[in-house]
Amino acid sequence: MDNITISTLARYKREGRKFAALTAYDASFAGVFEAENVPVLLIGDSLGMVLQGGTDTLKVTVEQIAYHTRSVVTGAPNALVIADMPFMSYDTVEHACHNAAELMRAGAKMVKLEGGDWLLDTVRALTQRSVPVCAHLGLTPQSVHVMGGYKVQGRGEAGQAILDQALRLQAAGAAMLVLECVPQDLAKAITEALAIPVIGIGAGKDTDGQILVMHDILGISSGYIPKFSKNYLNQTGTIAAAVQAFVEEVAHGDFPAAEHTFG
Ligand code: KIV
Repeated sequence: MDNITISTLARYKREGRKFAALTAYDASFAGVFEAENVPVLLIGDSLGMVLQGGTDTLKVTVEQIAYHTRSVVTGAPNALVIADMPFMSYDTVEHACHNAAELMRAGAKMVKLEGGDWLLDTVRALTQRSVPVCAHLGLTPQSVHVMGGYKVQGRGEAGQAILDQALRLQAAGAAMLVLECVPQDLAKAITEALAIPVIGIGAGKDTDGQILVMHDILGISSGYIPKFSKNYLNQTGTIAAAVQAFVEEVAHGDFPAAEHTFG
């Protein structure tokens, strides 16, 4: 796979070329994902659930994300590797800069932060200091206890607020946006309104990219399986073939299907 940069993804968006993204946490899986041409890998704080067995992502630390980032960039040197900033690691602009530097030193090419308007100064500060930022709107799992559970966001009038925040985050310098668990029509409107690439999870088929948690596509997540995910291993038989099927279905617009989508 050629080296993937934010310019590569911006070009994919202009060309209408849909791309796949996966979470990754170690060098071996990251190597398989890169070999199967997954251009974007995220060291998600979902590792608090899928690696550590927790019920939420709140216990994950910057040190843990940095550790897994070092492994992922070793296994996938050409992917655009995004490191999640854990809960409370960006509660102030100063903390955000300090902790983002730690993750960039670990090899990340971008950091991801969950939230809207309260992050505008932080996004501006990071971008001005040469840290590319991926914003994350919709269902933001670090806010699970405020949201009262893992629920679809942005239905009805709340959708306009998410669209407005997405535009302001882009104006503040965000180079990418993850949209999680929002109605398909809202995700389409946001993807069309933004110049930056938008990656959806539970956001319907119209975003520029699709991301899933690797354990979900391999059917090894314990407990609750989200409606928006799909087990590719049981229809293919090998990990490489499962990843390849995911990449191809995204590229051809076959994933997500209606059954993975919120209205
Ligand atoms: O933590 C994570 O894995 C994520 C993705 C689900 C987008 O934020």
